[in-house]
Amino acid sequence: MDTYQKAPQPLYEGKASRLYEVVDQPNLLIIERKDDVTKLDGEVRDHIEGKGAYTNRISNQLFRQLGKHGIPTHFVQELTDRETLIQRTSPLLLEVIVRNYATGSLCKRLPIKDGTLLRAPLVELDYKDDEYHDPLINHDHALELGVVNNEDELYGIEELARSVNTVLWNFFKKIGIILVDFKLEFGRLPNDKIIVIDEISPDTCRFWDAKTKRSLDKDVFRTGMGIDATFAAYREVFDRLTAKPE
Ligand code: TMP
Repeated sequence: MDTYQKAPQPLYEGKASRLYEVVDQPNLLIIERKDDVTKLDGEVRDHIEGKGAYTNRISNQLFRQLGKHGIPTHFVQELTDRETLIQRTSPLLLEVIVRNYATGSLCKRLPIKDGTLLRAPLVELDYKDDEYHDPLINHDHALELGVVNNEDELYGIEELARSVNTVLWNFFKKIGIILVDFKLEFGRLPNDKIIVIDEISPDTCRFWDAKTKRSLDKDVFRTGMGIDATFAAYREVFDRLTAKPE
């Protein structure tokens, strides 16, 4: 098995992860998931011991699933509980939200009742910029801001996001979890191909238990239920994802 040596200092540190270059591998990076959890654009921060191992392994499991369905992602190989080898890309300044049920910011913006199953999956684009609080944008804004090279790329990204939703909706349904909504990020490879990057985990998705509609994601933390309850929710998603079928 190949070994990959992490550079001594991170290239970048975000709210939930650190990125490292890999010695002698310019096209690869190592992502290390942190135990930090934040809300309100990082204004409120806490530490949940062991959370990074769950977000790493859950995300990798989901990226493997997407790979099986031909959806390109940055995932290469899980290295340790919290470290993963990924393809290096130029990240797009875009967050793509896909919603199946109405909740969260959608219900603050529009007269749609919380908990409504949407007529069809709804795709939104946000400009990724903490200073502006990741505002909702349309195609014209994205082109004006130079987020993508042309509108066809935006259509391609939205199509990919809908395919991710179809694959994951069906996958979670089998384990009694409703995929309520989630956020995706995309990166550009040197050949201009756009792939899914970052993570898909309870930090970036809303999951509801199909029977009770109980939250199994970061909403547990957002709503102030505490770090033990948040950790338990993340562990439950991981356990259900990895349980052997009876
Ligand atoms: P929202 O209802 O707050 O707009 O969130 C929609 C989904 O996107 C939800 O699953 C949480 C996720 N999300 C992130 O992962 N990061 C973000 O910065 C935002 C705004 C949402």
